[in-house]
Amino acid sequence: MLPKPQEWNEFYAAMLKKSGLDLHQYKANQLQRRIIQMAIGKKTNSLSEFWNMISTEKDGLIWFQDRLAINVSELFRNPEKWVELEKQILPSLLEQNKRLKIWSAGCSYGAEAHSIACILAEKFGTGHQIIGTDIDQAALSQAKAGNFNQNDMRGVPKEHQKYFEKQDAAWIAKPEIKKYLNFKTGNLLGDRFDTGYDLICCRNVVIYFTDEAKQVLYDKFVKALKPGGILFVGGTERIQNADSLKLTSKISFFYQKSTERQQTTWRNAS
Ligand SMILES: C[S@@+](CC[C@H](N)C(=O)[O-])C[C@H]1O[C@@H](n2cnc3c(N)ncnc32)[C@H](O)[C@@H]1O
Repeated sequence: MLPKPQEWNEFYAAMLKKSGLDLHQYKANQLQRRIIQMAIGKKTNSLSEFWNMISTEKDGLIWFQDRLAINVSELFRNPEKWVELEKQILPSLLEQNKRLKIWSAGCSYGAEAHSIACILAEKFGTGHQIIGTDIDQAALSQAKAGNFNQNDMRGVPKEHQKYFEKQDAAWIAKPEIKKYLNFKTGNLLGDRFDTGYDLICCRNVVIYFTDEAKQVLYDKFVKALKPGGILFVGGTERIQNADSLKLTSKISFFYQKSTERQQTTWRNAS
């Protein structure tokens, strides 16, 4: 199957109209390869046939959105970043605010959010909240259940293993960490964002988006952060124009939103 540009346009327009999801904001090559695989998997011969199928069958669009991006994740993925988060980032945020509001954006099945919850439970007490959002419903159900497998557990530091309980082949998060967590559906490319976050983690998600979509998203993240709040990005996702977004690189891959005082200085200087 090799759809023509016009067929793609029609598919994208129908998707936007029916589900609110703007596929133009995803990198075209990567996305279109995925869609063709899905269409072939459904034994359809054209994009319009594929669209008719997924737009009419029960939960067809949910099925499609669940497959838009891979949802590979890991508890404590990139271990050194979690040490920096625990030893430097969270203590400095807690000097400003006693109760932290944290967002794992594009959380997949919740590994990142559960990793943060372990650190809070172990070192920083209660009263903090972590919100995890994703477009993938199946991944979110797993996140809500706190259900992990043996592979996920490989990176969990010894001191945090007690927060998971083995049930047959699965490892289930215990109430001590679940109490911090709340998961809900969210489309990073279309939603209005809540505000007042101390920390936003968005790792290994923007790799799917166009450069324009990425810029809009980072700008919205900055608006959603408190002054002095931190944006934690993935290990290949250095933000090129951090200055113009009023972000400074605190430690690699942790960007800090300027404080009110810095903003006043910038406003006066310009
Ligand atoms: C590779 S996973 C990243 C998981 C986790 N943040 C990590 O780094 O381990 C990418 C996630 O982005 C989600 N995603 C893709 N497009 C999205 C969108 N428009 N809004 C919200 N999430 C999206 C996918 O469903 C997938 O779960």
